[in-house]
Amino acid sequence: MPRKEDILAAIRAAKEAQLHLPVHDEHGTHLSSMRVMGSSPEEVKHIADWREAARDSAPTMFPYNLENTRRWVEKQVDTHPERILFFLETPDGERWGHLGLATFGFEPHVSAELDAIMRGREDIAKGVMTPAIRTLMEWGKENLGIQQFGLRVFSDNERAIRLYERLGFERDRLIPMIFEKGEPISKWRECLEGEEPGRYFLVMRRPA
Ligand SMILES: CC(C)(COP(=O)(O)OP(=O)(O)OC[C@H]1O[C@@H](n2cnc3c(N)ncnc32)[C@H](O)[C@@H]1OP(=O)(O)O)[C@@H](O)C(=O)NCCC(=O)NCCS
Repeated sequence: MPRKEDILAAIRAAKEAQLHLPVHDEHGTHLSSMRVMGSSPEEVKHIADWREAARDSAPTMFPYNLENTRRWVEKQVDTHPERILFFLETPDGERWGHLGLATFGFEPHVSAELDAIMRGREDIAKGVMTPAIRTLMEWGKENLGIQQFGLRVFSDNERAIRLYERLGFERDRLIPMIFEKGEPISKWRECLEGEEPGRYFLVMRRPA
């Protein structure tokens, strides 16, 4: 089993090299590419716009203006040792979504959660999120030694759950969540004893 330091070094190296991975279908046709996320103004704008359009799918909400989003990318992605995100782009170089890995576990086995799964464009790369996540998981298994993948998704997000079941994820458990309005950050957090849940997080798992 790889040691934690080796896994973090491999994540760092992939970011420094701005790793690029091709996404193929089962016949080897090149469908899209994955490229390590950066914090250029164009990239930040995509993240902010897409996140705003899908604000209901994320547990944390803040005003997705360019400045806040740039700070989030720098702190929570670029320099975060246990998160790696990629942009997805068509063979013509059009960005259409992003995806990645975060929330690593190192004991008793190496695990990671799918993170920031987002289709920002509906008009291109139809059906490609499925093979893109497969490519991400293969890379994580081969290069980071991940043995178990997990994720958390709102249980009312049927389209995302269909995607994850297509990829072999199984339903594990439900976590009751309550909405907490804050300024500037509002979030869904786990219910405490006796609190009435507003929604549920579904935890899903899949062996690598
Ligand atoms: C969740 C999300 C990524 C799913 O994306 P997606 O487009 O369904 O995923 P894929 O690209 O793999 O496409 C699969 C769909 O395209 C269809 N499809 C597959 N190949 C296709 C093709 N060549 N042409 C047209 N449609 C195709 C599939 O039937 C499937 O549709 P279905 O779920 O209605 O059966 C997307 O809805 C999204 O970004 N939502 C907002 C953010 C979010 O909720 N993220 C998850 C947080 S946990």
